[in-house]
Amino acid sequence: MQIAGQTILVSGGSSGLGAATARRFLDLGASIVIADLASPDESLSDDYQSRVFHQPTNVTSEEDVRSVIAEGENRLGPLRGAVICAGIAHAERVVGRDGAASLEAFRKVIEVNLIGTFNVARLAAEAIARHEPMDDEERGAIVMTASIAAFDGQIGQSAYAASKGGVAALALPLARDLARHGIRVNVIAPGVFETAMFADVSDEIRESLIQQIPFPHRLGHADEFAALAQHAFENVMLNGTTIRLDGALRMGAK
Ligand SMILES: NC(=O)c1ccc[n+]([C@@H]2O[C@H](COP(=O)([O-])OP(=O)(O)OC[C@H]3O[C@@H](n4cnc5c(N)ncnc54)[C@H](O)[C@@H]3O)[C@@H](O)[C@H]2O)c1
Repeated sequence: MQIAGQTILVSGGSSGLGAATARRFLDLGASIVIADLASPDESLSDDYQSRVFHQPTNVTSEEDVRSVIAEGENRLGPLRGAVICAGIAHAERVVGRDGAASLEAFRKVIEVNLIGTFNVARLAAEAIARHEPMDDEERGAIVMTASIAAFDGQIGQSAYAASKGGVAALALPLARDLARHGIRVNVIAPGVFETAMFADVSDEIRESLIQQIPFPHRLGHADEFAALAQHAFENVMLNGTTIRLDGALRMGAK
């Protein structure tokens, strides 16, 4: 589907990969509903004014997500897609110096990264399914964000890897379920990207990860993620799959 003129929700759109996607899609002529706990950069509303709508949203809450979709559609028009980026990181060994890993922390990561992703996907799909089909009988598209940790989980990444493995596993069943409504679903599994999330990583881990990236030998730029999300919207044959975006990085144990 063409992005210009469509209303698309971006969860986690106030920072990092989501913010870059919101900006790229706005540049292409879309209207963007930002579903994020945090507010987007003020420059976004200055630059795009009536084509951006943000409402504080916790992706794990049914009420919050229903409300941002309803209000977003009221202001910007029928929802045609979602790019689901909201997520949190967590690192903890299964058994560390203080004993077994925290179950509470594990639950929280699954709650935000996996359940939050499914919550946004299901409610966005419900809204998109109400609208008329466009070319190729397509009604809309959804892009979810996993991580290469879904496949190459490192030491300390059990919760994060489990949450992202769950997101990757959703690509095919969601695409199959939503095919009858003309909605495609794909997952992007990024390698390591320069964002606020990555800023917290220690210099040692950062250097080790960059050393492991064959080419290009650097962190990814958020707009390179946004460019792939754009392609996932525009290429109607792309459906039910997870694409790694990682410069051929295969992470080692640490
Ligand atoms: N940066 C990387 O290297 C990298 C690599 C692989 C995967 N990812 C994934 O990409 C996604 C985006 O990450 P990023 O690097 O842009 O991080 P980021 O920290 O820059 O942005 C994440 C955004 O999600 C929002 N958020 C967090 N919890 C939320 C909640 N419960 N409800 C609503 N909003 C919430 C935050 O407010 C923030 O704006 C995440 O799912 C992350 O796991 C990032």
